[in-house]
Amino acid sequence: MQISQTLQKRLRSAQNVVALTGAGISAESGVPTFRGENGIWKKMRPEELANFDAFMRNPKLVWEWYEYRRQLIHNVQPNAGHYALVEMERRYASFTLVTQNVDNLHQRAGNKHVVEMHGNIMRNKCMLCERYYTAVLDLNPEKGVPLCECGGYIRPDVVWFGELIPEQSLIDTNESLENCDLMFSIGTSGIVYPAASFPGIGKRNGAYVVEVNIERTILSSEMDEVLLGPSGKILPELLELMS
Ligand code: OAD
Repeated sequence: MQISQTLQKRLRSAQNVVALTGAGISAESGVPTFRGENGIWKKMRPEELANFDAFMRNPKLVWEWYEYRRQLIHNVQPNAGHYALVEMERRYASFTLVTQNVDNLHQRAGNKHVVEMHGNIMRNKCMLCERYYTAVLDLNPEKGVPLCECGGYIRPDVVWFGELIPEQSLIDTNESLENCDLMFSIGTSGIVYPAASFPGIGKRNGAYVVEVNIERTILSSEMDEVLLGPSGKILPELLELMS
């Protein structure tokens, strides 16, 4: 792996680091990505599963699909890429992990400061009173869609197509990008906004922006450096260069 002298210096001197992650960082754990050969959206139609109208039309189908993904995620483990980011958080003065993933693997690996752009599949909320339910695996989809005490449908606490990103997540991300000096864009195709705009914002604010991906993406040309390879291999290598 060719890692420039500039990046090696930045790895050692950076104070404010931001890492944006996408589905690719969890691929080596066995969680399918959304796009590409075996991507989820190749097999399933997002308009039938990941939006509010789909849920209202067929809540049981949508609930079952999320329950299937939860079980899958529940049975996998964080990988070396996730753990490298835990170590970066420990070592850098300021480290913000902004993730588009809902799989909770960063949190399970041990990252403390995770900004969730698209929610978290391990959490549910009532559509009426917004009460949160975290004991998701106890809810039984066989009996139909779980209902809240108030009578409202309980839905996964994830951002569906057409829904707004949680405001606090945007505030936290913008703050972290304001004075970031090193930024990583890891395992994301860079197709979904607003996350796809974050590397550009980081760069305009003076950060050295590095992409980690198994292939070039639509964002690659904006990057200061592109490291091609699996994040589970590259991130631990970057960690070694920090000290
Ligand atoms: P995608 O599935 O669009 O992209 C995954 C990226 O990971 C691709 O660029 C792959 O090349 C890369 N990749 C795969 N394996 C990798 C590995 N081992 N190491 C490094 N990179 C690897 O996933 P996202 O960009 O996360 O939104 O997709 C963004 C959003 O689109 C998701 O959060 C989801 C989806 O619709 C919602 O559900 C709201």
